[in-house]
Amino acid sequence: MDAKELNHHFASHAHPAPLSDYDRAALKQLAEIHGTPLLVLNLAAVDRQYRALAAALPGVKLFYAVKALAHPALLARLNQLGGCFDLATAGEVNMVRDLGIAAERCIHTHPIKKDSEIREALDFGCTRFVVDNLAEVDKFLPYRQTVELIVRVSYRSQDAVVDLSRKFGCALEELDALLAHVDKQGLTVKGLSFHVGSQSTSPAAHVRAIEASIEAMARFDKMDWQWLDIGGGFPVPYQTPVMPIEDFCAPIRQALAAVPEAVEIWAEPGRFIAAPAMIELLSVMGRARRGTRMWYYLDDGVYGALSGQIFDHALYPIGLLTPREGARLPSVLAGPTCDSIDVIDEDIDLPPLEIGDVLVARMMGAYTLASATEFNFYPKPQVVVVEDLSSQP
Ligand SMILES: Cc1ncc(COP(=O)(O)O)c(C=O)c1O
Repeated sequence: MDAKELNHHFASHAHPAPLSDYDRAALKQLAEIHGTPLLVLNLAAVDRQYRALAAALPGVKLFYAVKALAHPALLARLNQLGGCFDLATAGEVNMVRDLGIAAERCIHTHPIKKDSEIREALDFGCTRFVVDNLAEVDKFLPYRQTVELIVRVSYRSQDAVVDLSRKFGCALEELDALLAHVDKQGLTVKGLSFHVGSQSTSPAAHVRAIEASIEAMARFDKMDWQWLDIGGGFPVPYQTPVMPIEDFCAPIRQALAAVPEAVEIWAEPGRFIAAPAMIELLSVMGRARRGTRMWYYLDDGVYGALSGQIFDHALYPIGLLTPREGARLPSVLAGPTCDSIDVIDEDIDLPPLEIGDVLVARMMGAYTLASATEFNFYPKPQVVVVEDLSSQP
């Protein structure tokens, strides 16, 4: 690589910003006050992420996918920022209702739901629902006068870490039949949606899906198309760098320019907003030499907030809170439970660790606490909310 290529290489990838000495001192103090395992929710990062995505997708209404991290402080902050909300269950509906969030700023995006869940959302005042099959459409017949439907179409992508188009989404070839059925039943469809998969490594799938959606809208020109929802998938850097959001969204913006003017564009970001907003602090609670490796047992693992390693296929950047000089040895990081699957990293080079040393895991906001269990009666990590980590305490 010559210097120009090297510059381009670094300019086109994003890493988590390094923690400053100031951040580290603030985190150390939080660990001393609250103990570990501790999740630190940094609201300044929520602001940054929301604003970065809004700037990269001007004119696109952002519905935060509550499933990524359903924390009241995060939702309240997004509400203040003017964000909207993507809800999928009655529990999520109740959470936004309790926070006083307006139902007009919410959509219900779960393609499969019970009648009781539909009624719960309607009772709250949310009237926009996603469907992707005939049986689901029929569930809305009793609420024909009130609801406005969005049809989710499936576009498979090889580039997403988490595929969301196998389980959900109407095949493009079946869209005609589904729309004809909706029409026959006297229901109103006003939008199309898709989700190309979470942690998408390239914007190509979004672009293809936008182009196909524009074509589908043109084919069904008797529908009163008002919304195109381009889903989530916006990536964040875990152990592997990703395209900066501005670069990722550039081709998406270009594709969106061809959407008819009357159609409002929506997106449903979850990971991009939540992941960088939470850091986990974990302590070494045991150490043992087993064969040629040092094993370190931490006070949270894959049954806890690091459950995202299993369910979400994420590998979080993890290191010592206070970096230490000295020889690094091949080591293993394990969680606290009695199960042998509870291993965080089998092959990590670390300086010798002592019991009580604190480690820091980054990018821990999305699909982490959301899937944590209390196996072995280890409670889920406590969450502490800070306004801005860099100005703590
Ligand atoms: C319907 C729906 N919308 C949005 C999201 C959020 O996606 P992401 O976290 O990739 O932004 C998901 C994730 O599972 C989803 O299922």
